[in-house]
Amino acid sequence: MGQIVPDLVERYLSGLNHQANAVLVEIARAGAERDLPLVDAEVGALLRVLALAVRARRILEIGTAIGYSGIWLAGALPPDGMLMTMEMDPERVRAARANFERAGLADRVSVVAGDAQRMIAKVAGPFDLIFQDGAKELYVPLLERTVELLRPGGLLVTDNVLWNGEVVPGFVPAPQRDAAETRAIAEYNERLNRHPQLVTATVPLRDGVAISVKR
Ligand SMILES: C[S@@+](CC[C@H](N)C(=O)[O-])C[C@H]1O[C@@H](n2cnc3c(N)ncnc32)[C@H](O)[C@@H]1O
Repeated sequence: MGQIVPDLVERYLSGLNHQANAVLVEIARAGAERDLPLVDAEVGALLRVLALAVRARRILEIGTAIGYSGIWLAGALPPDGMLMTMEMDPERVRAARANFERAGLADRVSVVAGDAQRMIAKVAGPFDLIFQDGAKELYVPLLERTVELLRPGGLLVTDNVLWNGEVVPGFVPAPQRDAAETRAIAEYNERLNRHPQLVTATVPLRDGVAISVKR
């Protein structure tokens, strides 16, 4: 549980969400055991709704981990759609590929192994939706490239924009998170919300999700 939404409200939302299947439940459990910072099922459902709403056929994800959010996204794709998802940790890449197989989605998912900062320069757009959930210090350096890769009307969805409340001055009495990452997210939020090609709204769900549509 995070500290943005009260635990009782998070549990209520969780009780209403019947979309996670057995594979997703098992991957979430494996992620929790390994202390991996995966989105939860409520953010997963939001990703799926957004991908369906824009009729996404091509999705890019930065930060695969073991494929949990990727399965929520890829589940919204038509059979000829594709999710390209980037991850630099080789063991997580292996686990993610196995999980996409288990979820029956491997035919529409490409897990790209390596540093997203380098690889994103080589990717060809346009994408209908980009999910930014990689290293927080890369949010600002990758912003212009992600906007460039989106089609007009496409969505840039960014996780962790409230960073456990630590980007909000005075909200957390004893901050726990890395101060450089907190500054990086605060700067990203400013740039995202002032970006001339984007219209952004932030949903204070879990750790904060920013949803930006490209003009
Ligand atoms: C927050 S986790 C992703 C969680 C995943 N989106 C989910 O909710 O299921 C961030 C991931 O980004 C990866 N990562 C960090 N920096 C990266 C980089 N420069 N290139 C590619 N992956 C990176 C980390 O190894 C980590 O697995």
